[in-house]
Amino acid sequence: MRKQIAAANWKMNLTIDKAETLLAEIIAAEINLEENHFAVFAVPFPYLQIAQRKIENTKNFFIAAQNCYSKESGAYTGEVSVEMLQSLNVKYVVLGHSERREYFQESNQFLAEKLNIALEYNITPIFCCGEPLSIRDAQTQNQFVAKQLEESLFHFSKDDVQKIVIAYEPIWAIGTGKTATSEQAQEMHAYLRKVLADKFGKEIAENISILYGGSVKASNAKEIFSQPDVDGGLVGGASLIAAEFITIINSLK
Ligand code: PGA
Repeated sequence: MRKQIAAANWKMNLTIDKAETLLAEIIAAEINLEENHFAVFAVPFPYLQIAQRKIENTKNFFIAAQNCYSKESGAYTGEVSVEMLQSLNVKYVVLGHSERREYFQESNQFLAEKLNIALEYNITPIFCCGEPLSIRDAQTQNQFVAKQLEESLFHFSKDDVQKIVIAYEPIWAIGTGKTATSEQAQEMHAYLRKVLADKFGKEIAENISILYGGSVKASNAKEIFSQPDVDGGLVGGASLIAAEFITIINSLK
């Protein structure tokens, strides 16, 4: 059974006090997660250790980093290695978010290197892909997103690729309040799974969780997550409000 994941992406938000309060409120809701349901919190680097300690006794809750560097260690001022994440017991890392691709020029090739090192250290990558509005308007979103997968994921073995979680996040839906319809999400997720099946085989593709991201909130999560190829969501804005994110976690199918 595929993992169903509600992943919070806090981005560059919250002070430590607010971050601790938010986590405490969500933990206090005592959500009883099913075996294959997970809540993941991608918190800013300085909060990783505190967040990790806070959630460690809550079943199926995990902490994620929002990024990592592609090198093992060394003279890379300001960067964070996967070895550091591993030493903090952090189990997930978000890679290739569209904000990283856009503002920090992260290419598919560079992301392939980050994915390699994350897997080497047994950190599960949440690999983001998704098209900008101009591509959607030109109706070439399938080719665009397939290329992101090809250039970042196709070098992996079958064994390794199924350790990766994919998040489809159409850029025109991120932080805009404009969600893809559940049909649009399902259509793209089914297509991504087909791209993976063509390369790695159907069985492998069926094991890979594909999350939807882009203006997911309490009021639309259930409908989006109910689509057969949507395995939860990567949530920005709504993950900063405890009541919203609790409902989103409870919307996993
Ligand atoms: P949003 O962000 O939920 O605020 O649209 C999603 C994301 O960027 O991961």
